[in-house]
Amino acid sequence: MKKEYLIKQYKTIYKKSPTYIIRAPGRINLIGGHTDYNDGFVLPIAIDKYTNMLVSKNNEKKIRLYDLKYKESNEFDLDNIELSPQKKWSNYQRGIAKALLDAEYEIGGMDVLILSEVPEGAGLSSSASIEIATLLSFKKLSDLEIKPIEMIKLARKAENEFVGVDCGIMDQFASLLSKENHALFIDCRTLNFQYIHLSIQGYSFLVCNSMVKRKLAESSYNKRRRECRDALKILQKYLPEIKALRDISFDDLERYGSFLPGKLQKRVKHVVYENERVIQSYRELLQENIERFGGFMYRSHQSLKELYEVSTEELDLLVEIGKNETGVLGARLTGAGFGGCVIYLVKNSCIEKLKEKILDVYGKKTDLVPQFYKVVPSRGAYVYSTESGFPHYY
Ligand code: GLA
Repeated sequence: MKKEYLIKQYKTIYKKSPTYIIRAPGRINLIGGHTDYNDGFVLPIAIDKYTNMLVSKNNEKKIRLYDLKYKESNEFDLDNIELSPQKKWSNYQRGIAKALLDAEYEIGGMDVLILSEVPEGAGLSSSASIEIATLLSFKKLSDLEIKPIEMIKLARKAENEFVGVDCGIMDQFASLLSKENHALFIDCRTLNFQYIHLSIQGYSFLVCNSMVKRKLAESSYNKRRRECRDALKILQKYLPEIKALRDISFDDLERYGSFLPGKLQKRVKHVVYENERVIQSYRELLQENIERFGGFMYRSHQSLKELYEVSTEELDLLVEIGKNETGVLGARLTGAGFGGCVIYLVKNSCIEKLKEKILDVYGKKTDLVPQFYKVVPSRGAYVYSTESGFPHYY
């Protein structure tokens, strides 16, 4: 999206120039499904689709918002922040303002223009990108001393406690700290992370949006979290030292797994094996073994389908199509599941053929027209000062 166009729109709406342009990306998770809130490991990349926010201070204690895509405005007062049932899209900004105030940061009013390139309800973290962009806006305009990890935690808190989705920490992490051409290997317990250079020459990540909106996603997601907590509680009777499902070894699973009700047994098995797959994937990627990494993507999908039960027929079909095409090394659902997107690791020269095949087979079986995005591993959130014109990290 052209900066000049956005600045012009800003001037028309607010009759002044923006001070900063903030950009925060969406993400895909290469592997590590539903492991983050179990203190486990994940391996996301930021994608080259960003939420753009143009911002400047106002001298009132008001946050004024204008969403350019929906041509809708909304405002709220910093002295009285409540959920908006009508303008749900503004709840992310409200939640961030509230989280900052609760943590005793001093923030002032701002006038905001939003244009997001991240598709919504597709499992690409459009909400985390809005949260991170909002946080950075406050940080820049109110000169907040706040460390990246603190920002990530606050953004997650806003989503958990204000918006009401009990998400883990991965999406906000990836949106803020990703790096071009690298994946982020995150230990969601310690929050230590490492960049892995992605040597995938000749291959790309292709995202296919199933166009099945993640219906009931929020409630089913929260249900999975509860199941993990319930399983943990039962297992702690036998293994009092464990703090999260991340602490369960293959041996523990063998020994105590059968004390769990069948459904919980499946959930735990997924988490234990998926964590191991992330660690193995990290090693394979370091060694540039992308074929073996692709194999882990397929196994991850199978486990999300059969053990964690968060896939859908449409997502399974998309993965199956990939398996039968030449040049596809791996495929899996990304994000929470229950709809949304599948990602493929595919040879560049085979992308068009894969797309044609999907349009044909998927189109006939589902009556849906999937969308494709070829994504590149991109950098995390950054800020342009409209005065200097140069981008810089926060
Ligand atoms: C959503 C959540 C993340 C993570 C994934 C599943 O994207 O926001 O925290 O739990 O689902 O891996």
